[in-house]
Amino acid sequence: MAQLWGGRFTKETDQLVYNFNASISFDQKFFHQDVKGSKAHVTMLAKQGILTEAERDEIIGGLDSIVADVDEGKLEITSEYEDIHSFVEANLIERIGDTGKKLHTGRSRNDQVALDMKLYVRDEVEELDHLVKQLLTTLNGIMEENLHTYMPGFTHLQKAQPITLAHHMGAYFEMFKRDRSRLFDIRSRMNLCPLGSGALAGTTYPLDRAYSARLLEFDGPTLNSMDSVADRDYVIELLSALSTIMMHLSRFSEEIIIWNSNEYGFVEIDDSYSTGSSIMPQKKNPDIAELVRGKTGRVYGALMSLLTTMKGLPLAYNKDMQEDKELTFDAIDTVKGCLALFDGMLSTMKFRKDVMEDSAKHGFTNATDAADYLVNHGVPFRDAHGIVGKLVLYCLEKKIALDDMTLEEYKKISPVFEEDIYQAIRIRTCVEKRMTLGAPGAEMMAQIVEENKKYLEEK
Ligand code: ARG
Repeated sequence: MAQLWGGRFTKETDQLVYNFNASISFDQKFFHQDVKGSKAHVTMLAKQGILTEAERDEIIGGLDSIVADVDEGKLEITSEYEDIHSFVEANLIERIGDTGKKLHTGRSRNDQVALDMKLYVRDEVEELDHLVKQLLTTLNGIMEENLHTYMPGFTHLQKAQPITLAHHMGAYFEMFKRDRSRLFDIRSRMNLCPLGSGALAGTTYPLDRAYSARLLEFDGPTLNSMDSVADRDYVIELLSALSTIMMHLSRFSEEIIIWNSNEYGFVEIDDSYSTGSSIMPQKKNPDIAELVRGKTGRVYGALMSLLTTMKGLPLAYNKDMQEDKELTFDAIDTVKGCLALFDGMLSTMKFRKDVMEDSAKHGFTNATDAADYLVNHGVPFRDAHGIVGKLVLYCLEKKIALDDMTLEEYKKISPVFEEDIYQAIRIRTCVEKRMTLGAPGAEMMAQIVEENKKYLEEK
C-alpha cells in the first residue's frame, strides 16, 4: 500500500478498505495528462519563486524519465499505489529524493484530479470529433454518388413517397453534423483550468493561476475554487452528447439491419463486416450494426449513472465523484469503437440500386403525385385523394402498380386522366420535381453535397 497520507493515523488501513478506495486500476488512463498537469504546476511554482529553477528542472527531468520508462514498458503502473497521483509522486521521490516532495506544493488531489479529468476529456473530445468527421466524409461521398438512386421513403415504416439514397444519407449527415457542433460547444464551455483551486478554498501561496492555465492551453482559470473541484457538468454534457451520437448510430443501424434482411435486400454488408452462424450455413448476419444498436444502452446508462451520482452531493469534493471515471472512460471508448466500425461497415456496404428502385415503384409511393396530377387538372385535392384511393384499391386487387394500369382503366375511375399521367407518376419525375430546399430532387441535393464539402473543408 503506497499512499500520500497517514500521518494522523495510528492503524494500517484495512486491505479491503484500501482496495475499495483505490482508483489506480482505472485512473492510470490519464497518466500522461497527470504528468502534463504536474509539469505546468512546477513551472508556475518556479516562476513565482515558490520553487527554485533548479528544483523545477529536477522535478521535470524526473517526471519525464517516469513517462519514458512507463511508455517503454520498463516501469509498470501497479495496484501497489492508491491512485495515479500517488504512483507518479512516489516514483518521483524515489528517483530525485526530497525535491520530489515539493511537487505537491500548493495543490490538492482535488484540483489535480479535476484537472486530469478535464485534460483527458478535452483530448478525447478531439478524437471523437475526428471520428464523427470521418463518418460525415463517408456519408457525403455516398450522397454524391447516389443523387439518382431512387428508393422508397418511409413513414410508420410504410412506403410513403419516393426519395433518393443521397437524400436518405443526407438526413444522417445533418444528425452527425449537429453531434459535432455539440462536441464543439462542450469543448469551449469546459475549457477553463481548475488547477490552483486546492482542496476547495484555494491556497496561501502566491500562485499565478492564469499562467498555469495558459501553459495548459486553457482559455483561462476557473473563477470559484469550490466549483472547480466539485464541477463535473462537462462530463455530464459529454455523456449526453455521446448518448445522442449513439442514438443516431442506433437508428442508422436499425435501418441497415432492416435493409439487409432477406425481405428488403436493399444492401449487402461486406463479408469483412458480417459474421456467420455456427449452425445455419446460409446465414450472413449484420452483427456490427446489432452490436452498435446494443451498446447504445450502455452509453445511456453512463449518463444516468453520473447524473444520479452527482445529484445529492454537498459542496465541494466528495469521494462519490471518483465514480465519474470508469463509466466515462467506458462510454468514450465504446463510442469511438462504434464510430470507427460503423464507418468501415458503411463505406464497404453495397447498395442494391435496382432493388431499391423496384421497391419504390411497387409501393404506391407515387400516389401523392397521381393526386397532384388531378389537382393540376382542376380537381379539388380532397376529391383527388379519394380518386387515387380507388386507384390503389384497384391495383391491390389486380396486384399491379399504378404505372401498369391502362389509360382505359384510369379513365373508368376518373375521366380527367390523360396519356401524360404516366410521365407524371414516373418515380424519376416524382423525385426530380421535388426541388424545394432540403427536398430530394437531384439538382437540390447536388447543391447540398457541395455545401457539405465546403463545411468539411472548413471545420
Ligand atoms: N481518486 C480520486 C478521484 O478520482 C482523487 C481525488 C482524491 N481526493 C480525495 N480527497 N480523496 O476523485
